[in-house]
Amino acid sequence: MRQGPDSASFEKPAEAYDRFVGRYGPSLARALIERVGLPPGSCVLDVGCGPGQLTAALAEAFGAGNVSAVDPSGPFAQACGERIPEADVRIAVNRSTPAACPF
Ligand SMILES: C[S@@+](CC[C@H](N)C(=O)[O-])C[C@H]1O[C@@H](n2cnc3c(N)ncnc32)[C@H](O)[C@@H]1O
Repeated sequence: MRQGPDSASFEKPAEAYDRFVGRYGPSLARALIERVGLPPGSCVLDVGCGPGQLTAALAEAFGAGNVSAVDPSGPFAQACGERIPEADVRIAVNRSTPAACPF
């Protein structure tokens, strides 16, 4: 049976993710932030933050105090919170994203 997006499929050590997908994280994060073009000091929410590659780049761009991040994976959310301690990082699942969301 195929697992849902909030299943245990991301209940992995953060280091394993870093070695696999995460190695592309910093460059992808910078490109995404540039593309979205939000003004400095914007408050941002990173949904599906994983171990925090994009969250870290958002903290650098907008200030960690302006960054919130959520992920259903306990290990990923914990790693993200440890890596960006001034951001508001929580274990949570996105169940519905408004259609007006530009992403
Ligand atoms: C491909 S990873 C992206 C990680 C991160 N954004 C980064 O910069 O590397 C996708 C993440 O989305 C999370 N995720 C999956 N379903 C979700 C949901 N319904 N709500 C929030 N996060 C979810 C997973 O736990 C996983 O950490």
